[in-house]
Amino acid sequence: MSDFFNSGWSNYIALVSLVGIVWCIWLLASQRKAKVIHTADGAVADTGHVWDGDLRELNNPLPRWWAWMFLLSCIFALAYLVLFPGLGSFPGVAGYTTDGALMSSMTEANDELKPVYAKYVKMDIEEVAADPKAREMGQRLFLNSCAQCHGSDAGGAKGFPNLTDGDWLYGGSPENIKTTLINGRNGVMPAYGHLETAQIVDLANYVRSLSGLPADDAKVARGAELFKSNCVACHGVDGKGNIAMGAPNLTDKTWLYGGSEATVVETLTKGRIAMMPSQDKVLSPEKIHLLTAYVWGLSNNKTAAAK
Ligand code: HEC
Ligand code: HEC
Repeated sequence: MSDFFNSGWSNYIALVSLVGIVWCIWLLASQRKAKVIHTADGAVADTGHVWDGDLRELNNPLPRWWAWMFLLSCIFALAYLVLFPGLGSFPGVAGYTTDGALMSSMTEANDELKPVYAKYVKMDIEEVAADPKAREMGQRLFLNSCAQCHGSDAGGAKGFPNLTDGDWLYGGSPENIKTTLINGRNGVMPAYGHLETAQIVDLANYVRSLSGLPADDAKVARGAELFKSNCVACHGVDGKGNIAMGAPNLTDKTWLYGGSEATVVETLTKGRIAMMPSQDKVLSPEKIHLLTAYVWGLSNNKTAAAK
């Protein structure tokens, strides 16, 4: 792949590299016939450079072993540039690419791990989640692929769901979690900027009342009506949400963005869009299986252990 806009730069750089190497070889050849130069009194001539009082630089020819090493490194450089990418955008005849090397080392690593994973793929998510070794592997995968968004403790952040609290946008069964990982999810809370500000505030009060937060009664009553006509399709008649839409339960104490009046008003005015990236092309099915078990275990192992 060439990162240059056109082949001009590539040719220029290739030319500079080649001329540089050829110049080195020429320089070496031009010194081939150099002889030891003697002064009139028979001593070896020096270059006139003197250091530390009496350290003179003599004017001897290049040592033969050194010249050969120099020549060999020039030949090596030329051979390298023919075989591998390095000469402008010329890809080299050996067919090597860094992408290709990465892919093959990843495939190799995956193949090595296949037998380890194979054991877990045959087991149910619940069983895998109970296996300490599998949990350890799952945690490592989580730290590599998921922690940047969900936090290293999977506790989430604003807009990034907590995966340990047993509260699910898209459902917490092993199948639900696996589907989330494989396909990714797109949560879209539409913007209601077209409503009047007072209506948005009424709605926010109603939403807060659903989880027992302080709210103004008159506003709650008006908000309830607006909720019926605008929100139930996704959040449900009772506001308990809908895992098919990823619409959160508004009656619990768990907030994805926040339950303060100002935050709910912001959610309604601007809408919210959240994306969980699909892992289908990124992680092997075996890794997704382990991760599903790890995530499922985060909120279910505790309950299972308490029984
Ligand atoms: C780029 C950020 C990002 C990365 C990386 C990411 N997620 Fe997510 N994830 C999200 C967001 C945002 C949501 C919420 C989507 C929504 O609100 O619709 C989410 C949702 C989820 C859900 C659904 C939670 C629920 O309540 O239903 C699960 C499970 C999940 N992620 C697990 C993972 C796992 C496991 C990984 C690692 C393979 C991962 N995520 C990587 C951003 C990310
Ligand atoms: C098209 C479906 C849809 C409709 C209609 C809808 N919502 Fe939502 N709502 C969602 C989704 C999906 C999310 C989660 C967004 C995300 O994952 O980032 C959400 C998030 C929210 C949140 C944020 C909750 C939190 O935990 O921070 C609030 C509050 C909310 N909606 C209230 C409302 C109200 C009030 C209405 C009606 C005026 C409404 N929604 C209409 C789908 C919808």
